[in-house]
Amino acid sequence: MYDYLVVGAGLFGSVFAHEANKRGKKCLVVDKRDHIGGNVYTEQIEGINVHKYGAHIFHTNNQKIWEYVNGFAEFNRYTNSPMAHYKGELYNLPFNMNTFNKLWGVVSPDEAKEKIEQQKVASGISEPKNLEEQAISLVGTDIYEKLIKGYTEKQWGRSARELPAFIIKRLPVRFTYDNNYFNDRYQGIPVGGYTGIIEKMLKGIDVRLNVDFFEERQELEGLADKVVYTGMIDHYYDYKYGVLEYRSLQFETNILDDTDNYQGNAVINYTDEEIPYTRIIEHKHFEFGTQDKTVITKEYPTEWKPGDEPYYPINDDKNNEMYKKYKALSTNEKNVIFGGRLATYKYYDMHQVIGAALATVDKEFG
Ligand code: FDA
Repeated sequence: MYDYLVVGAGLFGSVFAHEANKRGKKCLVVDKRDHIGGNVYTEQIEGINVHKYGAHIFHTNNQKIWEYVNGFAEFNRYTNSPMAHYKGELYNLPFNMNTFNKLWGVVSPDEAKEKIEQQKVASGISEPKNLEEQAISLVGTDIYEKLIKGYTEKQWGRSARELPAFIIKRLPVRFTYDNNYFNDRYQGIPVGGYTGIIEKMLKGIDVRLNVDFFEERQELEGLADKVVYTGMIDHYYDYKYGVLEYRSLQFETNILDDTDNYQGNAVINYTDEEIPYTRIIEHKHFEFGTQDKTVITKEYPTEWKPGDEPYYPINDDKNNEMYKKYKALSTNEKNVIFGGRLATYKYYDMHQVIGAALATVDKEFG
C-alpha cells in the first residue's frame, strides 16, 4: 500500500513525490506519457538536449526556489535574448533601445520615447476596446504592426480586433540597450537538460509510465491512501460542468546535417502572419553547443479539441466560471490534492509550479 498515488510525473508531481519520499512516505507516480518530466522533458538528439514541448528557460526572483533547483542540477549562464523576424528584418526583443534603433534610427532614450509618444497620440485611442487598440495605446503603431500583430493573431487563431484588450495588460518596453528578456535575478538552463532534474527527484520512487489514470482509476485509487492529481480537472469530474478550453501547439523537429548553426540564436519569433509558425527553436544554443549538426523545432499554434495536448488555458470569463465550479468540488475532496497547471487551469512558469508544489508539501506535512 502506498501513502500517495501521484498522477503526473511533471514538475508538480515530481517535486511532491520527492518531498513526500524524503519524509518517509511511500509514493507511486504514474504518467500516461512514455517519459517522466511532463512538459519540461528534454531528449538527447545528436548529442543536443531537445526541449520536446517548447523552449524552457528557467528564471526566478525567488532565491529559495533557485537554490532548490540548483540542488538537482548545475545551471549554465544562458540568458534569454530572443529575436523577432519580420519579413526578412531582425529585431531584438524585448522591445528595447536596440529594437528602437533598428526600427527608427533613434539613438537616445528620449528620441525613442518621443517616437512612441507621437504614435500613441496620432492613434487617438483613449479607451482601448480590443487587443489591437490596447497594444497601439501602449507602444504605438510601428511596434504593433511589425512585432505584435501577426505573432499574437497566430497564437490565438483570431484577429487582434476580436481579442479582448485585457490579454495585454502591459508590454515590457525598456529604454536601455539590454536584450535580456527577463528581469529576474536568476536564470539559466540545467546542464544536461531538464529530464536529469526529474530523474533525480524521482530516484528511489516507484514510477509507472504509459498509465492513464482514467483507464485504471479504481485499481489505482485502491493502491494508495491519498491521490495527488495533476491532470485536467474537468476530466477528473467527467466534464460534468463542461469542457475547459485550451490553445494547443504542434512541434515540427528536424535534424540539419549540413549546418552546425542554422539561425545563430536559440529562439527566433516569426512575427508576420504569412509564416504559419510562431517560433523556431535551435536547441544547441541553450547550452552553447559545439556539435557538428543542429536540431531545430518549428512551433505551430493550433486550435485545441478534446484529446489534443492542452498547452495554454483560455482564461476568459466563460472558462474561468466553469473552473470555479470544478474548484469548488475539488476543495471538498478529503483524500485528493489537486496541483499543477492542468488541475488548477492556470499557466504556470516552472519556478511558480515548484513554489506551488512546495507550498502544498508544507500544508500536507507541516
Ligand atoms: P505538466 O503538464 O508538465 O505535467 C503533468 C503530467 O501529468 C504530464 O506528464 C501528463 O502526461 C500527466 N497526466 C495528465 N493526465 C494524466 C492522466 N490521466 N493519467 C496519467 N498522467 C496524466 N516555464 C518557464 O518557467 N520557462 C519557460 O521558458 C517555459 N516555456 C514553456 C513553453 C511552452 C510551450 C509551454 C506550454 C510551457 C512553458 N513553460 C515554461 C511552463 C512549464 O512547462 C510548466 O510550468 C510546467 O511544465 C508545469 O508542470 P506541471 O507538473 O504542472 O504540468
